[in-house]
Amino acid sequence: MAFGDAGAYARFMGRFSEPLAPRFADLAGEPGGRVLDVGCGPGVLTAELVRRHGAVRVDAIDPTPGFVAAARDRCPGVDVRQGAAEDLPYDDGSYGASYAQLVVHFMKDPVRGIAEMARVTRPGGSVAACVWDHGGGRGPLTPFWAAVDELDPQQRADGDRLSVGSREGDLERVFGEAGLVDVEGGELSVTIRLESFDDWWAPFEEPAGSVGDYLASRTPDQVAELKDLIRSGMPDGPQDVTAWTWTALGRV
Ligand SMILES: C[S@@+](CC[C@H](N)C(=O)[O-])C[C@H]1O[C@@H](n2cnc3c(N)ncnc32)[C@H](O)[C@@H]1O
Repeated sequence: MAFGDAGAYARFMGRFSEPLAPRFADLAGEPGGRVLDVGCGPGVLTAELVRRHGAVRVDAIDPTPGFVAAARDRCPGVDVRQGAAEDLPYDDGSYGASYAQLVVHFMKDPVRGIAEMARVTRPGGSVAACVWDHGGGRGPLTPFWAAVDELDPQQRADGDRLSVGSREGDLERVFGEAGLVDVEGGELSVTIRLESFDDWWAPFEEPAGSVGDYLASRTPDQVAELKDLIRSGMPDGPQDVTAWTWTALGRV
């Protein structure tokens, strides 16, 4: 999947993941020692961890080269590496906590990815993850994919809504299979204020991730039809938009 450049990601998903980061970071409390941000993207959660712990205690990793560069720019002093959760280049027990914000559903092998996060976390330390509630229809992209369902049902068969971690209880199952103990599930929400439908749609003019892949496969007329359908289901003026994630916290 093409994640787009860091600027497009910030406009498209960053408006939700920025306010999510402090809430998600709270989940593991004060871990002590070093902390690791897995699937750091352009550094949204990394920056929050630096704010809390200082760059010297934070490491980050992501497989997308442009995001690695953006995270290095945003978080000087943090060791940001290129790599995937499933094969982490760190020693056993290096971290007090490891985090994956909005990443598990992109992992090729989520159980292995979480097991790797557990391996590099010290005994008694925490592993935390969150994924948008695509399955329950409470994610930031729900209005978009609901309209796709209506106009183009065949295309939705393998999209975000069906991915690992995006249904209630799914992250806890992955954590259990990865060998974590005392696993607790939960949910987190973020609410952002948008001035108009055009404000909501603006990032879709330069989308990233699965939405970008999907829109690139459609004609301009099909995109216009999709946009009109979404607009018809939304208020025209200012609105508060709330999105929810499922969360899981486990102990090594
Ligand atoms: C929705 S972004 C989340 C980025 C960041 N954590 C945030 O909250 O803004 C998903 C990220 O997962 C990364 N990713 C995809 N596959 C991965 C894997 N197997 N292991 C680790 N990260 C992965 C992508 O490169 C991308 O940066």
